[in-house]
Amino acid sequence: MTNVFGSPHQGSGPAHEQVVFCQDQASGLRAIIAIYSTALGPSLGGTRFYPYESEDAALTDVLNLSRAMAYKNAMAGLDLGGGKAVIIGDPATDKSEALLRAYGRFVQSLNGRYYTACDVGTYSEDMDVVARESRYVTGRTVSHGGAGDSSVLTAYGVYQGMRAAAEATWGSPALRGRRVGIEGVGKVGHRLVEHLRDEGAEIVICDVSERAIERVRARHPEVDVVAGRAELAGADLDVFSPCALGGSLDDETVAALRARVVCGGANNQLAHPGVEKALADRGILYAPDYVVNSGGVIQVADEIAGFDFERAKARAQQIYDTTSRIFTLAAAEGVPPAVAADRMAERRMSDIGRLKGIWLDS
Ligand SMILES: NC(=O)c1ccc[n+]([C@@H]2O[C@H](COP(=O)([O-])OP(=O)(O)OC[C@H]3O[C@@H](n4cnc5c(N)ncnc54)[C@H](O)[C@@H]3O)[C@@H](O)[C@H]2O)c1
Repeated sequence: MTNVFGSPHQGSGPAHEQVVFCQDQASGLRAIIAIYSTALGPSLGGTRFYPYESEDAALTDVLNLSRAMAYKNAMAGLDLGGGKAVIIGDPATDKSEALLRAYGRFVQSLNGRYYTACDVGTYSEDMDVVARESRYVTGRTVSHGGAGDSSVLTAYGVYQGMRAAAEATWGSPALRGRRVGIEGVGKVGHRLVEHLRDEGAEIVICDVSERAIERVRARHPEVDVVAGRAELAGADLDVFSPCALGGSLDDETVAALRARVVCGGANNQLAHPGVEKALADRGILYAPDYVVNSGGVIQVADEIAGFDFERAKARAQQIYDTTSRIFTLAAAEGVPPAVAADRMAERRMSDIGRLKGIWLDS
């Protein structure tokens, strides 16, 4: 059984502040909201709607995801803590207005300690429904005052992180003429293709969806296509960019990689602890996933103050500097960039979170 009160994770840092189980039998809602940390402000993280095999699997997932959001939001420079929610069920058959609104009332009951947004299985239109019951919702549709599709700035941020990795590796951030392999050309991956083609990079892609490949090829017939991850990893690449599902950097893929840089939009790219070291040992520079893919959360976080695309884009552009600083710290401390990123995030949570100890009468 998952242990909520202990910290079921590697590394240092505190354990979860609050975990809330929510049930509304009539609508079928079974949800868990996990707040890892509010050291930097109210927690923010999406709602995953997924047919978990067990309550324990759902709980483990939400604990891991909420912790990752605390680190992502800290490194994105946001005044937001980390939280996440899961709804247990099949979004294709179980999602209804009543269920989403029941969920919204539980989000509201936390009084702003948790802001929700989209994740796997939930869309901006769903957030519009949740927002009928709660003020603490982001990622709504543009017509409802929301930030819309977060993959726009996610892809832009990954591009900025890739430029920083290029500079650290080859002495120049330019990607022109570099060969970039993208695994997964969905919402994030296909937008990344546009940034890279605009700069003159060469692109190789793979995707399990023929439709996704065709969408890219229709606009860019010059893009090469390979069968899958194994072929992509073994291809003659400068950069390998995981933009599909998590766990893409497993032992086999790392052993086969010919690229000098790994930088992509997918969450949880490292299949297990230790992969970050295996990459470093092979001389491959890994740009930490939660740092370079934080453009999406930057986009939806901006909605809290009234969405302004240019302001959010300017903040996402800073992912370049943040990624560079991580590489510098990693080199100085002799640790892989993933470890350096965790240390920087923990430092910010501690340094800025501590300021609440200076009492203010407000
Ligand atoms: N959308 C965002 O704003 C955002 C923000 C942060 C992180 N992410 C992460 O980025 C990744 C991509 O997100 P997205 O929004 O583009 O999702 P998406 O579903 O639109 O795209 C994923 C693509 O990967 C493909 N794919 C799935 N399995 C594959 C495999 N084994 N090999 C090759 N291709 C495969 C799918 O067919 C799809 O085209 C996810 O890991 C997501 O968690 C997304």
